[in-house]
Amino acid sequence: MTTPYSLENLIQDLDRITRDDDAAAAIVAAAKPLLAKFVRQPDCLEAKFKKRGDAAYGRYMLHRASRFNITAIVWGPGDNAKAHNHQTWGLVGVVDNEIQETRFRRRDDGSQANYADLEVAAVLKNSAGMVSCLVPPDDEIHEMNNMTPRNTVEIHVYGKDLADMPRLRFDVQTRTVKTFASPKYDNC
Ligand SMILES: [Fe+2]
Repeated sequence: MTTPYSLENLIQDLDRITRDDDAAAAIVAAAKPLLAKFVRQPDCLEAKFKKRGDAAYGRYMLHRASRFNITAIVWGPGDNAKAHNHQTWGLVGVVDNEIQETRFRRRDDGSQANYADLEVAAVLKNSAGMVSCLVPPDDEIHEMNNMTPRNTVEIHVYGKDLADMPRLRFDVQTRTVKTFASPKYDNC
């Protein structure tokens, strides 16, 4: 597989960006156009990374490094991830099809145990070639839904490996929040 801007190119650029700056906003601003360039290439991913799992959405670790990691995520029709945070910066680039992303703003100050009051900040339809950015601490809560009848393929870049890392999942209706940790490669 040859692409003008390869995964190796993206890794090298992200390595440089995260070495030169550790501010989340600066990192995502520099990385966003590069991930967009990568996902806009139809052959950017091998076919084996574009398959949904048998029982859940597909997830594949493409690169793991100390300052960031890159995964491919494949959402089948109806697959979703309810409102959650990440405790790090992130970029979600769409390779194929479309994902509905709901972004939330937290209205409470987090001081009350198990309580969180979220309001919807935006409901986005992210289509192929688009990149969505997460910037902690104030703009990194989202929910993902594949509302379409076919698979959606994405590339996720996060500043930490989310596997086993305690973070928050929200129930927007009941205004409750719980700590959870993702299993291996579930970097969503
Ligand atoms: Fe997420």
